[in-house]
Amino acid sequence: MYRAKIVGTGFYVPPRVITNHDLEKLMDTSDEWIQQRTGIKERYYVEDGVGASDLAYEASKRALESAGLKPEDIDFIVFATLSPDYTFPGSGVLLQQKLSARHVGALDVRDQCTGFLYSLMVADNAIRVGQYKNVLVVGAEVHSTGLDYSTEGRDVTVLFGDGAGAVILTATEEKDRGILSTHLYSDGTYADRLWAEWPSSRRLPRVTHKILEEGKHFPKMDGPFVFKHAVRRMVEVIKEALDTNGYTLDDVAMIIPHQANLRINQMVARQLKLPENKMYNNIDRYGNTTAATIPIALTEVLEKELVKDGDLIIMVSFGAGFTWASVAAIL
Ligand code: COA
Repeated sequence: MYRAKIVGTGFYVPPRVITNHDLEKLMDTSDEWIQQRTGIKERYYVEDGVGASDLAYEASKRALESAGLKPEDIDFIVFATLSPDYTFPGSGVLLQQKLSARHVGALDVRDQCTGFLYSLMVADNAIRVGQYKNVLVVGAEVHSTGLDYSTEGRDVTVLFGDGAGAVILTATEEKDRGILSTHLYSDGTYADRLWAEWPSSRRLPRVTHKILEEGKHFPKMDGPFVFKHAVRRMVEVIKEALDTNGYTLDDVAMIIPHQANLRINQMVARQLKLPENKMYNNIDRYGNTTAATIPIALTEVLEKELVKDGDLIIMVSFGAGFTWASVAAIL
């Protein structure tokens, strides 16, 4: 039996910085409101014509470089995104082509903010049974082309940014390294509390001029409802990761949470009585990049040497679906 070890990480954000003051020019909002309620100061937006697979390509190149591997070493690609380049095919195949990787499998995962952790589960299990040696797991999003820049959409729009993060998992026979556990959950009861209803294959046609004019194709969210559930579920699933592996919070070097709202993460930390230096947050600089937040944060944590070889980390997320998950790993 093998373990899946994190041997490379990388991230990429497009060059265009969008500050809260830039958004003030488009809608009735303020830097003060956004910072107070969310912790966000700025985020990055792509230029027209740049897709999730382009951001993923840059992040993947960096992850491969940090792992000392080449694209031909990849045995499988898992691509988490809620904003694929096209309706179909998925962005995974576009990434395979951009990387000039071999004709390996490329799986798109559609679990929004939890997509990256769902993807790690797939990669981990494929490695554990000996099917693949090196798996590239990417989270990448282009939100900026799908947001409502009018005041009506301000609650959602100010939160999101574009970006990508990538991780290389490699099979190891070391007993004390790699992913220890993955716990994944969903509850579709609340699908319409955070969703983009249109275009919809349930409708003929899938979208109309009227729907577009009314802005019904933009993401909609019941913010306070999502907030409450996020805190509860993230606390639960962190505890489950600890209990399953026989650890306590004292054993954890760093919790790497999804970046949806700084206040959500602060509340999770408070409920767990977790010291501030044991939870990594970078939402101030990137906003919520959905499937990309955790691999971006993980890359920064490693680059800043906030964790070291042999440390225990727990990655945790909550998002649309609802979906939530935790992944515990020894670096
Ligand atoms: N700028 C200024 N005012 C805004 C605003 C913005 N960008 N967005 C909303 N407001 C207003 C609202 O209209 C409301 O005004 P009212 O009191 O006159 O009706 C007021 O601010 C408070 O709105 P509310 O939604 O209760 O605020 P909140 O403190 O819950 O913060 C969110 C809103 C969206 C930041 C917060 O609910 C949140 O982060 N939720 C979870 C989001 C999330 O996790 N999403 C992704 C899941 S992965």
